[in-house]
Amino acid sequence: MVPALSGKMSGEALVYLDNAATSQKPRQVLDFLGDAMVQSNANVHRSMYELSDRSTSLYENAREAVRSFINAPGRENIIFTSGTTSSINLVADTFCRRLAPGDEILIEGDSHHSNIVPWQLAAERNGAVVKVIPTDVMLGIGRSGRVVFEELESMLTDRVKILALTHISNITGLVNPVGETIAKAHARGIPVLVDGAQGIVHQKVDVQEMDCDFYAFSAHKIYGATGVGILYGKTQILETLPPYMGGGDMVETVTYGKTTYAPLPLRFEAGTPNFTGAASLTPALEFAEFLRSGQTGKVLKEEECRIMSYMAEALASDPDVEVYGTGVNKTPIFTFNIKGINAGDLAQLLDKMGVAVRSGLMCAEPLINSFGANSVLRASFAPYNTLDEAQTFIKCLHRAKNMLL
Ligand SMILES: Cc1ncc(COP(=O)(O)O)c(C=O)c1O
Repeated sequence: MVPALSGKMSGEALVYLDNAATSQKPRQVLDFLGDAMVQSNANVHRSMYELSDRSTSLYENAREAVRSFINAPGRENIIFTSGTTSSINLVADTFCRRLAPGDEILIEGDSHHSNIVPWQLAAERNGAVVKVIPTDVMLGIGRSGRVVFEELESMLTDRVKILALTHISNITGLVNPVGETIAKAHARGIPVLVDGAQGIVHQKVDVQEMDCDFYAFSAHKIYGATGVGILYGKTQILETLPPYMGGGDMVETVTYGKTTYAPLPLRFEAGTPNFTGAASLTPALEFAEFLRSGQTGKVLKEEECRIMSYMAEALASDPDVEVYGTGVNKTPIFTFNIKGINAGDLAQLLDKMGVAVRSGLMCAEPLINSFGANSVLRASFAPYNTLDEAQTFIKCLHRAKNMLL
């Protein structure tokens, strides 16, 4: 089903547990990409010949696949970008041009750098301030890594102009209560962006039910090609944003003096997009749907529950392990340290055993530092991973630990 998973690493059978960084691709996505490059490789929206029509259809069909996958109302709500990062930058840059000195942008204490830095850049440009909804660790009231949304009540003042949430943390794996938080922000007229880079993989997302104003995610984390992102936006708010980048395809008419812009969504898609990569979202999202629905979905969900309990118990039973991210509403992302051992050294030894895990700061330096760590190890599972792989990982981890202690 996913050819890379039966491959080898360092001469050993591969156990790929770095899915929060990027997913491995199913056969249908690989075949699609190869076929599209041969049969439909022409620039989109531009030419009058059949090859270009085919390419445009594949690109626009993928927009429809995304629309349907997240239940967006229309194609104008789906903007293709180059990744979650560029989706968030688009909003931070364009939305925040209306901000004035003293205005506030709220972010979460468990944010990925790409949901921190774009807001800081935007704030610096107009004197706005970025404020952080703290985690229990930051408040010194716990070590779970959960965001203390109770703090939001006093933070949601008239100065707040936008709230940038994280659906699921790439460190703790905890699922944030985005729906109710959005309702609280909306009660005060504050729009909300949700970073769904991890959320889209592990949760059924219905943007209309969630009622977010923006939802950002990346194709590569959900079995599609790299270099493609999605920004969902409500029509009424997208209509108020100025263009982000200028160039071909985002215009209606251009003179040397003045340009008028194309309607949504193309207004935000300047230049040649990664059209083949974006088109791969059609088979990628079909695969995602297959993994979560019917009998397959049921079987994989049960396996995921087994993986969750096994991993939680295996890590908790070692007194030398500190896990960052505990709680009931958690996805299979396990971040931790073993006392006295450098996470990078562990990752290197695990590589020699065929196990791919991430080490370092995981693009969430403030959160990792708040735990008192400056490097961590992360094993992140996708629905295609098995309990067997979790057991191999723990066995290899013990071996690596014994070699390093
Ligand atoms: C929660 C979260 N947000 C944003 C990103 C950035 O995604 P990308 O690098 O695909 O833009 C990631 C990637 O790991 C993530 O986990």
